[in-house]
Amino acid sequence: MMTYNFDQLNDRRNSYSMKWDIKDNELPMWVADMDFQTVPAVTDAIQKRAKQGIFGYTIVPDDWREAYCGWWKRRHNLTIAPESLVFCTGVVPALSSIVRKMTTVGENVLVQTPVYNIFFNSIRNNGRNILESRLVYENGTYHIDWADLEAKLSNPQTTLMFLCNPQNPIGHIWERETLAKIGELCHKHHVLVVSDEIHCDLTDPGKEYVPFASVSEICAQNSITCMAPTKTFNIAGLQTAAVMIPNPVIRQKVDRGLNTDEVAEPNVFAIEAVLAAFRYGDQWLDELREYIYENKQLVWDFIKKELPDVHVIISDSTYLLWLDCSAYESDSEKLEELIREKPVCGCVPVKNMAESQMDFYG
Ligand SMILES: Cc1ncc(COP(=O)(O)O)c(C=O)c1O
Repeated sequence: MMTYNFDQLNDRRNSYSMKWDIKDNELPMWVADMDFQTVPAVTDAIQKRAKQGIFGYTIVPDDWREAYCGWWKRRHNLTIAPESLVFCTGVVPALSSIVRKMTTVGENVLVQTPVYNIFFNSIRNNGRNILESRLVYENGTYHIDWADLEAKLSNPQTTLMFLCNPQNPIGHIWERETLAKIGELCHKHHVLVVSDEIHCDLTDPGKEYVPFASVSEICAQNSITCMAPTKTFNIAGLQTAAVMIPNPVIRQKVDRGLNTDEVAEPNVFAIEAVLAAFRYGDQWLDELREYIYENKQLVWDFIKKELPDVHVIISDSTYLLWLDCSAYESDSEKLEELIREKPVCGCVPVKNMAESQMDFYG
């Protein structure tokens, strides 16, 4: 029996939603924004705060640090030193700021692709080079090409790596040994690791992700971890995230960078939402994970039956699905046209369909 109602359909049109402010006949399956209401404790906390009717400047209290530390200890068995946490208005603002502060123009930032497309913007828009180490697609699944990764990390112009843990869009939870090996290679070649762990709570039931910083002291001391409750609790519009930096020298630099970029101060609801989510969101999240898992099964079954030539990449986390449609069309723009002409996906009878990011990565 579920306590929370994830069956409720929520009409978000005409609410300035980036996802839903679209034409009537379109399905916005490109943005990582769920259509479930958040955990009621978050809405209650925001309403309570709003009732004051004063929306002044907000501090980052110790409670905020405790909320993150408590959640990661309880959910992910990671002990975080409270002082290692720095507030940021989002993971993407943090990524961009870190690129500006920790690398110089013309250096390489390594990404393992396919990956969240905005990584590219944070690198390119700051005048750094994107260095791709492509994950190898073989037998319907992805793995790391270690020789390629090491060759690229050993390039003296490569100074930063964006890790996506778990990986969006393939939904892969990186294994401890894999993370340890990445950590060692980055340490050996003097490449700082930024581990984006924004999707870490959304693992399939029974599956657990491994925080990069938990793997070894080498990983902890040479990394910046981006964390947030925003994907987990569907509160991205509240613009609230944290960067966790165990090494005090790196932390000082990143802290100054975030402040100089003016992304280190919370809006009036950003703290209240985190406290409520991390204090009272456990059961809601566990039910959500069950629900998403069922939705994934529905999509898998549907695709198997109706679109047998589409290969669904097996994922063990996130509510995103990465579909191999190359049997239909390998050119992504043509594929887009094809989907619009023959919108079979529009008929998927799923209550809150897991998102395909085909447009996003096209
Ligand atoms: C891997 C990853 N990082 C970051 C973000 C966005 O983070 P934020 O909204 O905190 O900037 C997303 C959103 O889809 C994402 O998938």
